[in-house]
Amino acid sequence: MSDLPQLLTEALTETRERTLTLVAGLDTVEFETVYSTLLSPLVWDLAHIACFEDLWISRAAGVPALAPELFTTYDALETPRSRRGELELLGTEESFAHLAAVRARTEALVSQVATDRSDLVELVICHEQQHNETMLQLLALAHLPNPFTRAQAAEPPAASSRAPAPTGGALELVGFAGGEVTIGAGPERGFVYDNERPVHVRALAPFRLALTPATNADWLAFMDAGGYQRRELWTREGWRWRQAERIERPLHWTEDGRLWRLGELVDIDPEAPVMHISWFEADAFATFHGLRLPSEFEWELAASSGPASGQRSPLPWGTEPVARARANVDQVGGGPVAATSFDGATQTGLRALIGDVWEWTASWFDGYPGFSSYPYREYSEPFFGEHYRVLRGGSWATRPRVASVTFRNWDLPQRRQIFAGVRLAGDA
Ligand SMILES: [Fe+2]
Repeated sequence: MSDLPQLLTEALTETRERTLTLVAGLDTVEFETVYSTLLSPLVWDLAHIACFEDLWISRAAGVPALAPELFTTYDALETPRSRRGELELLGTEESFAHLAAVRARTEALVSQVATDRSDLVELVICHEQQHNETMLQLLALAHLPNPFTRAQAAEPPAASSRAPAPTGGALELVGFAGGEVTIGAGPERGFVYDNERPVHVRALAPFRLALTPATNADWLAFMDAGGYQRRELWTREGWRWRQAERIERPLHWTEDGRLWRLGELVDIDPEAPVMHISWFEADAFATFHGLRLPSEFEWELAASSGPASGQRSPLPWGTEPVARARANVDQVGGGPVAATSFDGATQTGLRALIGDVWEWTASWFDGYPGFSSYPYREYSEPFFGEHYRVLRGGSWATRPRVASVTFRNWDLPQRRQIFAGVRLAGDA
C-alpha cells in the first residue's frame, strides 16, 4: 500500500505548525491591523489559507465546500491586497476556527483524494507554504518580533557545504557557454505550477553571471557613488518612481546606517546580500556597473548545471534537512547570511543561487510556449505580459519545497516588501 496519504498528512501538519508558529503570541490588534496596502492583514491570510484548502480539497473529493460563501472575500484576485482592509472579515478567533474545521475535514479525506488528486493536496501545501513567506514579509514590514526563538534557529551548516568559499563576489563574473538549454519542469517532478511547464528548449548566447548576489557592502558603495542621485543610471519609469517615493536606500534601512530585521534594529552586515530593493533599484545598480540583470533562463541554466559540462542536476534536494545544509532557506535563520556561505547544491561554484534573497531578473513574467493553465486560470495567466518581472531562487524565508530551480516568482518592478536582491550578469 502506498504511504502517500501519510506523507501528505505529515506535510500538511508540518506546514500548519509553521503557520501557527509565525503568528504565535500576536494579539488581536496585530492580527487585524492593515499595516500596508501591499500586504494583507494577517487575519486575511489565515482565513484565505482555510478557504483555498476548502475549495481544492472539496473539489478533489467531489464533496460540497464547507463555507463557499467566504470564497469571494478570500479570493486573491477578486479581492486585491489594497482592498482587504475595507472588507467585513472574519475575526481572529473565527479565522482560527475555520482553519481548524477545514483541516479536520481535509484529514478525513486525504486517503480518498490521494489516489487520484494528490496534486491538489500538494497545491494546498505549497500554497500555505508560500503564504508563510508573505506572512513573514508582513512581520518584517510591521516591525513585529521574530517568531523564531534562538533555539529554533537552524544548526550551522556542515563544513563541507560551506567550503570552499570562492574569493571575489558580486562583481566577479563566471562564464557560461549558453547553447540549447532545457527550461522548466515536467511531470517527473510531481506537482509543479502551470507557469513552470511545459519543459522546452531555448537557445542562449554565452553569458556571465556573478559569483554571489550583490552584498550590502556593494550597495553602500553604490550609494556612496551617488547611485540614487544619478539620473543616467535609471530607466525613465524607475526615476519617476524614485523621485515620487523619495527612495534613497533599500526598504527597512535607516538613515543612521542600520536596518530593521524582524522587529530589531541591527547593524548592516557588509557580507550579506542586499535585500528589500525594487527591480528599478536592481536595474540601476547593474547599469552603474556597466552590466545587466540576467534573464530568468540564464539564471535557470546556472542553477541547474555546471558551466563546463552543460549537464543539468535534478532537484537540488529532496528533504528539508538536506536543503537547510546547502542553502539559507526555510525561515528559521531570520534573514540572509554572508553571500558566500552556501553552494545551494548547484555545481557551478556560484554561491547562494538558492536561498538568502530572491533575485530579480530582466524577464517579464509570461507563459512558456505551449502553456496551458492548471489547475485554474487565475493562478498565473492574469499576470502574464509586460507588467511583472520574474524573480528566481527563493529567499531565506522560502520553504524548501518551494525553492526549486524552476520555480518562478513575480512582482511589480517597484515592489520592495519581498525579500529580494540582485545578481549581476553580462554578455560574454
Ligand atoms: Fe493565496
